Amino acid sequence: MEQARAWLQAASSVAVLTGAGISAESGIPTFRGAGGLWRQYRPEELATPEAFQRDPRLVWEWYDWRRGLIAAASPNPGHHALAELEQRVADFTLITQNVDGLHDRAGSRNLLKLHGDIWTLRCLGCGREQRDERTPLPELPPRCDCAGLLRPGVVWFGEALPPRVWEAAGQAAASAEVFLVVGTSAVVYPAAGLTWTAKAAGARVIEVNPEETPFSAHVDCSLRGPAGVLLPQLLS
Ligand code: APR
Repeated sequence: MEQARAWLQAASSVAVLTGAGISAESGIPTFRGAGGLWRQYRPEELATPEAFQRDPRLVWEWYDWRRGLIAAASPNPGHHALAELEQRVADFTLITQNVDGLHDRAGSRNLLKLHGDIWTLRCLGCGREQRDERTPLPELPPRCDCAGLLRPGVVWFGEALPPRVWEAAGQAAASAEVFLVVGTSAVVYPAAGLTWTAKAAGARVIEVNPEETPFSAHVDCSLRGPAGVLLPQLLS
């Protein structure tokens, strides 16, 4: 922890990659940990264009349930610590795989959302995107004014990440002196590749996770514990 603090204090450019684990202490279940299942479905079975094509109502029941959980949740000290870190570092980028919007609510500004945003709905008919924060949604699946089917504005398995966001995330990882990877199981690519990009570019990589991940053997410093506890300590 001392070493990680020193690296952070000395860094003028920092990039952070977060996953579902940073929202766990806000009461939002992670995807692959205990409680990650919903009605015995795994995310890989629901977060796909095929699943939506086959049963849009079922996929929307899962998202509507998650939207309800998120609406009732608040950012935790881990989210707030990253918003504080952004104020202290000259060149700071927060890259998140999360779609819950808790980093926004904690005050993070320079935020790259690799997998989209659960509060955005996109029409399969006219393509229009709209922000809709109603929970629960009045009808599932929701419909656009054009009568087209609305889908969640998130990136599903097999879909491309938003190109400009991905480009910016790669640049941030490649130019960071310190790369913090927080609360991700590091099994979903291309997001997980950002840590290798940072390492290859010479960054000090610090992992914050209560469990071992495929990165753990390759990072410069592994802080084993919950983000809500360790991130504030990193900044104190
Ligand atoms: N603090 C930090 N990390 C935690 C905490 C905590 N309090 N609780 C759990 N974790 C860790 C777990 O040990 C695990 O490594 O968070 C990680 C959560 O992993 P996943 O559930 O796989 O979530 P994530 O890595 O974000 O998944 C990546 O997969 O389903 C897709 O698009 C979805 O963005 C998601 C992507």
